[in-house]
Order: sequence, then C-alpha cells, then structure tokens
Amino acid sequence: MNSNLNISNLFRPDVQRLIGYIPGEQPQQTGWTKLNTNENPYPPSPLVVEAIQKAATSSLMQYPDPLVKHFRELTSELFHVDPDWILPGNGSDEILTILLRSFVDAGESIAFPYPSYILYGTLAEIQGAVFEHLPLNADWSFTSEAKQIAQRSKMVFVPNPNSPSGNCWSDAELKQLMPTNGIFVLDEAYGDFRDQPHSGELLQSEFGKQIVITRTLSKSYSLAGIRFGFAVAHPEVIAGMRKVKDSYNCNTLSIAAACAAISDQQWTQKDKDAICKTRTRLASSLTEFGFDVLPSQANFLWCTHKTGSHETLYEQLKDRKILVRYMKYPQAGPQSDQLIDGLRITIGTDDQIDTLLTAIREIL
Ligand SMILES: Cc1ncc(COP(=O)(O)O)c(C=O)c1O
Repeated sequence: MNSNLNISNLFRPDVQRLIGYIPGEQPQQTGWTKLNTNENPYPPSPLVVEAIQKAATSSLMQYPDPLVKHFRELTSELFHVDPDWILPGNGSDEILTILLRSFVDAGESIAFPYPSYILYGTLAEIQGAVFEHLPLNADWSFTSEAKQIAQRSKMVFVPNPNSPSGNCWSDAELKQLMPTNGIFVLDEAYGDFRDQPHSGELLQSEFGKQIVITRTLSKSYSLAGIRFGFAVAHPEVIAGMRKVKDSYNCNTLSIAAACAAISDQQWTQKDKDAICKTRTRLASSLTEFGFDVLPSQANFLWCTHKTGSHETLYEQLKDRKILVRYMKYPQAGPQSDQLIDGLRITIGTDDQIDTLLTAIREIL
C-alpha cells in the first residue's frame, strides 16, 4: 500500500469543496417522538404489505421492469396524462439528481427560493454548477430580484408547498419565475396535503414543455422507507431523462409497494384528513404558547417564538426524546442580511402531538 497517497486530493475539486447535505436525524433506538423529517405517522395501506410479500416470494431472482410500466399507467390516470409523461425514481431526491445531470452543465446556474430545500444547492455543487437564491419578502412572496434571477437561470426549483414554511405560491406567481431558456421544477413532495390538490394545470399552460413536476410517495403514502418518487413532464423531457437514469433505478419490492399504495387512494385520503385536523389543533395550541405559526398546506408547521431561543428549545425537547427540526438560514430575506431561524414540526399522531405539547408547556 502506498502510504504517501493522499486520497482526499483524488476527489474531483467540486467534491473536495463540498460540505454535503446533512439529512434530519434518524435515531435507531426506540422510544423517540419523531417529528423532524416530515414522515407520515400512520402506516401505509395494508395492500402495500400484501404486495411486497407477494413480490418477495415470486420475483426477486429477476431484474425489475426498467420502465416501471404498471406504476406509470396507474399514475398517469391520476394526473390525466399518458404514461409516457411519467418517470419513476428511487425517491424524488433521485429525480432531482437526474434533472441536474440531464440539464445542467458545469458552470451553469440554478436557482431556488431561500429558505427552502437545501439539497438543490448540494446537487448543483456536485455537478460543478453554481446556484443563486431567490430572495423572499417577509410574507414569503418573491422579490422582484427573485424574478430576474429565475429568468436567467438554467433550472429553477420551487417546492410547493415550500419547506420549511409550508406556504404555497399561486400558479400566477410561479409563472413569473419561468426561466427564459431553462427548466422549471415544481417540487410537490408535499402536494397531497394542499387544500386544493394540484392537478398539473401548469403543465397545460404555455410553459408546459419547460415544467417538470416531482412527487414522492414518502409523505402522503407513508413510504419513506421504500424510496419511491416520480416526475411528471412532457414526453420529450421524460425521454431525455430516461437516458440518464440507472437502468434499474426502482427495485421489485419498491415498485410493488408503490403500485399498491397509489391504487388505494381512500387510505391516503383518510390519513391526509387526520393529519390536516391535527395540524389545525397543533397550530392553535402553539399560538396559545406564544409562538408565531405560519399557515401551512403541508404535513408540518413552521413556528418561531418571541424569546428567539429556538435552538435551546430544540435541545430541551431532544433531552426528553422528542425530535423536531431546528433550522437556521443565514443571509436570508430581501436584503440577504437576516438570520431566519425557527422550528419545523412534523404533524404526528394526536398522541405524539400531546407528548410534544406537554413537554413545551413544562419547558416554557
Ligand atoms: C421539498 C422536498 N423535496 C423532496 C424531498 C425528497 O423526498 P424523497 O423521500 O422522495 O426523496 C423532500 C424530503 O423531505 C423535501 O422536503
């Protein structure tokens, strides 16, 4: 072995500079009240377990369907498009990676709202691309500078509903962020929790060909552990992205689970209703405790407290084995001179939320 070899220097310079995305904590011991990574607190449809068992006993020795035809047929009905508008992936994070690899070259620029999903920036850096933030006003609307930045970008990502804020932007606002010569990615990881479920109307608009909607089964379908997401876009876009993906990017068990889950819309609707009801209750209790709580259309709430000691509260909850997400965004706001921080709390079961509220009452 050559002991003088410096492995760190062998990485591509872009990777050497990279800090890397840090996902939310996933404690491996039991006993935690876990409200930090926007998972669904309810189990998936029983049809999912049945489908996984069936697939596990009959088809593991063969490669999965590289085109995931059955899932695409089922999903296309939901979105009122043909199956060639759908590209499944190993979680919607993989779809985001495929998008960057398909469209964005080293040196090109992407943009996304700030605060929003930090992973977009990490993916750009891996690609050797640069990123710009789309600045937001105090009411989470886009500044006029944001519109200019978006228009000159090669790719614009907008989570709708946004994370961590849970707000939604209207189609009219989104249209103003359309790049002149690029792709607009509407990240609808939390789309099923909206008051008005999105029907893909932007895809039918004059910008239709530029728009890619990404969706996940991790949240509304309770399948975060399965890793399954998909893109909805014009067939020309999907065909290009298919060239970039791994041949078998979705596995036999995840395909079986995803097909079963998407077929049981009644189950998903029942869980969504329960989550939205608990969301209303949590928001009003937090308000009574002196928090400012943003109206949310997702399965989480963004809240800030007058005392400003969000990190301490996060730590104190963690000491009680309750995990919420403390989030800190330096250089935010319209003038890029603000520190925005607060707590993002996933909507759990009513029992989990009671545990949280009891703890907060004791701490405050
Ligand atoms: C805005 C946003 N997009 C995408 C994802 C990724 O979801 P998936 O589990 O499908 O990779 C997340 C996960 O939390 C998210 O918050």
